[in-house]
Parts: sequence; C-alpha cells; structure tokens
Amino acid sequence: MSKLWGGRFTKNTDQLVEEYTASILFDKELYEEDIAGSIAHVTMLGKCGILPQEDVDRIVDGLHSVLGRMRRGEVEFSIADEDIHMNVEKLLIEEIGPVAGKLHTGRSRNDQVATDMHLYLRKRTVEFVDLLLKLQEALIGQAKDNLDTIVPGYTHLQRAQPILFAHHLMAYVEMFQRDIERLQDSWKRINVLPLGAGALAGTTFPIDREFVAGQLGFDRIYENSMDAVSDRDFIVEFLACAAIIMMHLSRLCEELVLWSSTEFSFIELDDAFCTGSSIMPQKKNPDVAELIRGKTGRVYGHLVGILTVLKALPLAYNKDMQEDKEGMFDTVATLRGALRLMAPMIATMKVNRERMREAVSRDFSNATDIADYLVNKGVPFRQAHEIIGKLVLHCIRQGKYLPDLSIDEYKQFSKLFEADVYDVLRPERVVNARDVYGGTASRQVAGAIGRAEARLAETAEWIKTHGEKR
Ligand code: ARG
Repeated sequence: MSKLWGGRFTKNTDQLVEEYTASILFDKELYEEDIAGSIAHVTMLGKCGILPQEDVDRIVDGLHSVLGRMRRGEVEFSIADEDIHMNVEKLLIEEIGPVAGKLHTGRSRNDQVATDMHLYLRKRTVEFVDLLLKLQEALIGQAKDNLDTIVPGYTHLQRAQPILFAHHLMAYVEMFQRDIERLQDSWKRINVLPLGAGALAGTTFPIDREFVAGQLGFDRIYENSMDAVSDRDFIVEFLACAAIIMMHLSRLCEELVLWSSTEFSFIELDDAFCTGSSIMPQKKNPDVAELIRGKTGRVYGHLVGILTVLKALPLAYNKDMQEDKEGMFDTVATLRGALRLMAPMIATMKVNRERMREAVSRDFSNATDIADYLVNKGVPFRQAHEIIGKLVLHCIRQGKYLPDLSIDEYKQFSKLFEADVYDVLRPERVVNARDVYGGTASRQVAGAIGRAEARLAETAEWIKTHGEKR
C-alpha cells in the first residue's frame, strides 16, 4: 500500500478504478504550474513560521530537481499516483525523503489544482492575444497593399455593392479585436488566487495568502473558499472565447476556400499552405483553411461539454471537475494550431487584382448608385428603386451592363438622366461615394487602418505588462 492517502484503506485499489480515476495521462501538462504553485506555497509556510526554514529550503531545492527532471523528460509518470499533484509529491519523496511530506501542510489538492489551472490559462490567454495580434498584423498588411483593389461585396452571397478588398479584410481585424478584448477581460477573472482555500473551508494554519498571491503574480484572492475550489467559470469563459475565435476563423477560412476556387479566382494561397491530391495531378487544395473550419466543431463541443459537467454540481469540489481538463487542453492545442497557421497563410496569399476588377466591371453592383443619382435629383428613393429595377431588367434582356446603355436608353426610363450618369457608375466612384465613418471609401478605410494600427501598439503593450515576466 503506497498511496499518499492510503491510511484509511485496508485493500488495494482495483486496477480498473485506478485507471478510471487517474488524470495523470493528461494533467501532466500542468507540471510547470503545479511546481511553481508548490514553491510559492512552501516558501510562504517558511515565512509564516509554519515550517522550519531548513525544511523549506530542502523542499524548494527538491522541487527544482523534480522540475529539471520533468523538463528533460526523465520522469515516468505513474497512474498509481493518480494525478500531477501526487506524482510530484512522490518524486519529491524520492529526491529528499520524508521531509517532502511537509509540503502539503495547510493545502488541499482542491485549492492546488484550481491554482494550477489559473496559472495555466493565464499564460495561454497572453499567448492567444499575441497570436491574434500577429493575425491582425497580417490582415492589415494585406489591407494596406490593397487600398485600391475593388472587389464585389456580397449579401446572400450575391454581388451587392463594390467595396475595397481592404475594407473586407479590415472587417476581420475588427472581429479579432473583439476576441482580443474578450480574452483581456477574462484575464482579470483568471488572475485570482484560489490557494489557501484548503479543501473547501480554509485552513487552521496561520497562512499568508497575500504573500502567495504576490509570489505567483495574482492581483486578487478568492473572497470565498468554497467558490475558490469549485469555480470553473474562468475555464468556461476561456472556452467561450475560443469558440468565438474559431467561429471567426472558420468564416475567414470559408472565404479563402471560396476565393481560391476557379469560380472566384480572387486569391491564390501560397503553395506552402496547400496540399495536393493523390489522384488528380492538377489539384491544389486549401486543406489548412478547410481543417481550421472543420476543427471549429470540436472547440464548440468542449464548451458545451464543460457547461454540462458543471450544470447542477453541488458545492464544493466534486470529482466531475476533473473533466475540465482534456477539453481545455485540446482547445488550447486546436486554437494554437489554427492561429499559428492563419497569419502566415494570410500574409503570403496572392491577390488577383485583375480578376477582382473584372468581377466588378461586369455586374450590377453599381445599381444602388444610380438610384441614389435620381434621388439627388428629387425622385423619392422608393420610386428611384423601381425605375432602376426596370433598367436592370432591360439590361439583362439586352445582355448588357449599365455602362453599356446609351443616354437615350437611360432617358426612356427617366428624363432626369444626363451624361454624368456614366461617371457615377465607375467602381472607384461607387466605392468612394460611401464616405461615411465605417464605410468603404478609401479615405475611410485608410482612417480605419490607422486606428487599427494604434490598437496593435496598445495590444503589444498589454502583452508586455501581462506576460509571465511581469
Ligand atoms: N485530479 C484532480 C482534478 O483534476 C485533482 C483534485 C483532486 N481532489 C480530490 N479531492 N480528489 O480534479
């Protein structure tokens, strides 16, 4: 009987139970955080006179050796020791003997695991803000290169009105900005210390939670010990942020897939970010974009999974909560994989400006503008809409586009048409006419890019002040 909690038991754990309840196969991912938490805890025990300093020194040294062994991959984790917390303690006993048993004074695995998770997600939140920032930079880079590239804008996936390609890309910069802000906001609730809550009620030892918070860089301490050990809201929030980011990525990916099809031919993705077909030699597939789109599903699944685990759980800790981990780790890996690829894929894509240009010159996406032309001459908008509708129908029947009509043909539909109508139809004119804050006119898009660049600098500053080396 070698369990750390074996005293009360007269039988060995059933092998299947051991395998079923162990979390070490996945929570070993938390070893850095677990050891950092233990070092802060035991340092505090020394400082408060709860443990003699020489014991503390031996434990801290031992924890550093265990950490080194883990980093070098020299450690074999054991299912019999259940989870990362007890694996570390067992390894510490190997290093320094029975004095290792003093580490767990005034602490429970319940406040310990919560602390590990807070430390873990705090680090990842900053990492993801950084990856989103790099993606915004790539999008802004393409936007700046395409400040005069005009492309059809769509509603219902039908050509609607011409827009700057830069304007389209900047819409995604805004989405990812909201994602950044959501992560930054959730960081405040991640950066709260649970340690010191004990199993659920606090501890009898005269500990110093402020000191531990300071050691680990936490801004606040949980107000309520029961909440501290049973709160997983910060994980739900992280998964919700991740689900929204994946939703945004999948929308962008869907556009990349469409735009790179022969039917659109608006862009070409770099060879380095595409793959071939095993049978059709001509093919170049946007696999990365498709897979990011596809992996969105598993992240949504993890969000629903954790919400369901927590639903109706009584206070305080319940073993169900161990189910918070795999979905979170998988989400971190999935999101990291997607974001790392997205920025270089965007930065290296080739924009087929001629093809985009051709698409706007041979369609009716300037129809709104000649309706507005009549409105400016006093025709009520609804009536102008009707007139232009008929004009478009006339064009379709004649196999023509609006610029192809003679002025006489125009005048058959309204006497108010003059020769200046042709200028109104030019795509540049159509785009630049939308000179309203947030609109697609070059002037407005340039302004939006400028403001987005200022935010990049703010985000970079946030990363500096919230990274682990604060
Ligand atoms: N492996 C456990 C988890 O992830 C650690 C906490 C265990 N606490 C307990 N009272 N059994 O939830």
